[in-house]
Amino acid sequence: MLSYEKLLLENKAWAEEQSQSNPDYFKVLAAQQAPEFLWIGCSDSRVPANQITGTLPGEIFVHRNIANLVVNTDINMLSVLQYAVEVLKVKHVIVCGHYGCGGIKAAMGQHHYGIINHWLQNIKDVYRMHRPEIDDLKTEEERADKLTELTVTEQVFNLAKTSIIQKAWKENKSPHLHGWVYGLSNGIIKPVCEMEPGTHIDPLYEYDNL
Ligand code: CO
Repeated sequence: MLSYEKLLLENKAWAEEQSQSNPDYFKVLAAQQAPEFLWIGCSDSRVPANQITGTLPGEIFVHRNIANLVVNTDINMLSVLQYAVEVLKVKHVIVCGHYGCGGIKAAMGQHHYGIINHWLQNIKDVYRMHRPEIDDLKTEEERADKLTELTVTEQVFNLAKTSIIQKAWKENKSPHLHGWVYGLSNGIIKPVCEMEPGTHIDPLYEYDNL
């Protein structure tokens, strides 16, 4: 059997299993989705949002990209964010990075990988802003872990800079923003930062006419 054929076979078995344990399973899910969470995570295959949080289809709206970045010109991310916040009205937006992230490691080095370097430049900027704090650490691994945490925190801040989040905070006192980092080696998620709805950020980024 070819590798991809196994996926289709497993899918059939899964669908049958779901229908057997709950005959209405697909009918209910097909009718609507009302997830409470938006997950912005890394594309890394080892960090699947649903499995590591014990959630089911329908519970998390998901956007993933390399190194879980929130970039203000990314129309893909912004569309997901707007839909999740304004239509689905999610209560929590979670940016989840992970230790051992290839994107973080690549951003710390000087090798040119092609177009991806332009994407990773966002991480280099975080490193530059926090260079003394990161360079103080002894090992490469400690520095990568610190940069991972600081990058996640910066992406949460980037969310708060968007008019989408600021408008939702003003109108609905929602959503909460969370920065998490997942450990590949132990499966545990470490919360690293949090922003309550209405948190004031640098006024440079605050719109006064939303
Ligand atoms: Co990664």
